[in-house]
This record gives sequence, structure tokens and C-alpha cells, in this order.
Amino acid sequence: MSVLSCVNVSKVFRDNGFEVLRNVSVEIGKGEAVGIVGESGSGKSTFGNIIGGLDKPTGGTVLYHGDDISALKGERLRSFRRSVQYIFQDPKGAMNPYFTLRHVLMEPLQINFPKAGKGELEERITQMVSMVNLPQAILDAHPWEVSGGEAQRIAIARAILLEPEVIIADECVSALDLSIQAEVMNLLRRIRKETCASFLFISHDLGLVRYFCDRVYIMRYGRIVECLDCSRMEEEAQSEYTKMLLEDAYGEYEGNGHR
Ligand SMILES: Nc1ncnc2c1ncn2[C@@H]1O[C@H](COP(=O)(O)OP(=O)(O)O)[C@@H](O)[C@H]1O
Ligand SMILES: [Mg+2]
Repeated sequence: MSVLSCVNVSKVFRDNGFEVLRNVSVEIGKGEAVGIVGESGSGKSTFGNIIGGLDKPTGGTVLYHGDDISALKGERLRSFRRSVQYIFQDPKGAMNPYFTLRHVLMEPLQINFPKAGKGELEERITQMVSMVNLPQAILDAHPWEVSGGEAQRIAIARAILLEPEVIIADECVSALDLSIQAEVMNLLRRIRKETCASFLFISHDLGLVRYFCDRVYIMRYGRIVECLDCSRMEEEAQSEYTKMLLEDAYGEYEGNGHR
């Protein structure tokens, strides 16, 4: 059974009546890295917010281990929230500027483990900071005192802190310089190996998705065009739109797997 899935999800924004998503069905298996790729404005972020419970669909259902998330309550709801973590494009925007980075990491631990001793939680933070290849001294800095790449590593540390089942990364390297982008992608690959988390990797960049994911859903105008195995994209691509994306990303596409 999928960890997280959605069935025929639609979203119509009430204020303008715009249908951003139509009949989107996506499955994320245990340990799987699933990509969503599409142009800007195609509905990727809206979808990412709905599948992780940050926003509500106007049609269809989101299932967490087979249970409709709109019906989750109490401990089941808390467990869902703990199990699904986000990494966004702008890490600093999601951090309190008055907090030190230690405080940024401490807060979710204290909320989720109210009975744990301070030493125990500090040890967990130390462990996370070395896992994302940052020096321990960075914990005394505030978000605005570190670089974008460093802040994104802290955001990654915060996402894995509570041992989530699914990490939703929405354009998480799009704001970084190319060299930093490559470092962060390598880090995410290592985290994939070292944890058993599943990933929903949302990006407009097919090359990044292919580098990181097992499967990719191609999204266009709020619909899923098709779903492909990342190691067989050229062979499996059916739609002209996907073929065009492949051509843009990798140059001459012959449609038969030979490039
Ligand atoms: N709260 C909202 N109300 C109305 N329209 C919205 C809202 N949020 C997003 N949209 C519109 O939905 C479309 C998809 O947005 P988004 O999900 O952010 O796409 P992507 O992440 O693929 O760039 C865009 O046209 C955007 O303007
Ligand atoms: Mg987006």
C-alpha cells in the first residue's frame, strides 16, 4: 500500500473560480522518490500543499496509509503531521528570524517530545547538523546570518529531525546557485539512502527530477499528462508534451531511447 496517495484530486479556487487541478491521482510508495514536473503555474505547489495536508482539495481524496486525511483526528492526525515534512524554495522565509538555528531545530523536537531531556534533544540536533554537513558552530547563528545554501541544509535537517515517512520538497534547490544546487542534490540523495523516507520532489527542472527520482508525473494545466519510470523516460514517453520536455532538457530526442 502507498504511504501517501491521492485519488482524483481537484482544486477550484473559490475567489476566481479557477480550476488549478483536475482529477490528479498520484501514489507515493514506501521509500520511493516520486517527481512532479511541469511549467510554472501548472499547479505543482497547489498539489504539493494538498497531498501533505496544508491545503484542502475541492474534489477527490488524499489517503495516508489508506485513510482519508480529512477524517484524521487526535493522535492519528498528529502522527500524519509528524510523518509528512516539507522543504520549500525559500528556507529563511519558513524560519523565525528571531530564533537561532539551534532554536529553529529545537522547537519541533520540544513540541513532539515534551518529556525528553534537553541533553537528549541537543544530541539529536548535533547529529542532524553533522548529517547535513554543517559545522556545529552554525547553530548559534540566526537565519539571516547564513547563506541560502546553509539555510537550506538547516531546513533539510529540520525536515528529517522527526524521522518522517514522506518529505515533500517543492522547488527546494531552485533559488540556489548551480554549484550549491549540486551539493544540496547530493545531500538529498545521501539522505534518501540513509533514511527510509519517501520523497515527493516537485520541480520545473526535468533534469533534477530524473537525477533524484524513481518515477515522475508530468503535470500540465493542472492535469497529469503521464507517469514515467525515470530510467526509461525516452522509451516510455507517449505524449508530445513530454517528448518536448525531454528534447528541451536533453537535446535531440529520437523517441526510441537512442540519443
Ligand atoms: N490561492 C489562490 N487563489 C487563486 N489562484 C491561485 C491560488 N494559488 C495559486 N493560484 C493559481 O494556480 C495556478 C497554479 O499555481 P501553483 O500551484 O503555484 O503552480 P506551480 O507551483 O506549478 O508554479 C497559478 O495560475 C496560480 O496563479
Ligand atoms: Mg510552485
